[in-house]
Amino acid sequence: MIHFDHVSKTYPNGTRALDDISLQVEKGEFVFIVGHSGAGKSTLIKMLLREEIPESGNVEVNGYNLVKMKRRQVPLFRRGIGVVFQDFRLIPNMTVYDNVAFALRVTDVSTKFIRRRVPYILDLVDLAGKAKCMPQELSGGEQQRVALARALVNNPSLLIADEPTGNIDPQLSYEIVDLLSEINKCGTTVLMVTHEHDLVAEFNKRVVTLRDGQIVADSAARGRRAL
Ligand SMILES: Nc1ncnc2c1ncn2[C@@H]1O[C@H](COP(=O)(O)OP(=O)(O)OP(=O)(O)O)[C@@H](O)[C@H]1O
Ligand SMILES: [Mg+2]
Repeated sequence: MIHFDHVSKTYPNGTRALDDISLQVEKGEFVFIVGHSGAGKSTLIKMLLREEIPESGNVEVNGYNLVKMKRRQVPLFRRGIGVVFQDFRLIPNMTVYDNVAFALRVTDVSTKFIRRRVPYILDLVDLAGKAKCMPQELSGGEQQRVALARALVNNPSLLIADEPTGNIDPQLSYEIVDLLSEINKCGTTVLMVTHEHDLVAEFNKRVVTLRDGQIVADSAARGRRAL
């Protein structure tokens, strides 16, 4: 699903954010990406979404070579990936229903399909009763579940979450990861960036640790806690 082959990235100001990263993630895996602030986690995510291109090395995601990819291929590539951010990024003047439906309306699916699909996904994240609410009427955890619903509505093969629990309390964080775990069990590959070691310790998943742009630990194993 994801192949990083000796990937390096230096920003124009000279910061070397990624330093010779090689990483493979197979279809169906659940991977936590951890590391201190500035370690390169978000830069890695930007590489995966082709928001940044490596200065050297190769990146393949979901069968696409992102280095060779033409600009016009990017939207189709991104449609296969669901993304959730720390700050939710919901559209404030749209209802919960429309925030999720919007992600489908930009594709060419039928209205009939949208009317079936959106309630199904809202039910999946346990928000069936909130469809008509505006985002500001929801708690942080609920807003994050709307963001998750929006990321899932296109049935992506890969779900990427950059600090999805950064703005919500520990109990809700646990529930979000639990939900991601359920989604993963249904076949979606999940990659989640987090600062929260306690959260990582509670789930028995692969943990990749970044430090100063390098991978310093990769516990592809069960139950072991990285650093
Ligand atoms: N657009 C940019 N221009 C220049 N330097 C950048 C840019 N974005 C990030 N950096 C630098 O690259 C390094 C890695 O940043 P990155 O955002 O990937 O870290 P991070 O692991 O996501 O950190 P955090 O946990 O704080 O989100 C940092 O030293 C950062 O200052
Ligand atoms: Mg970051």
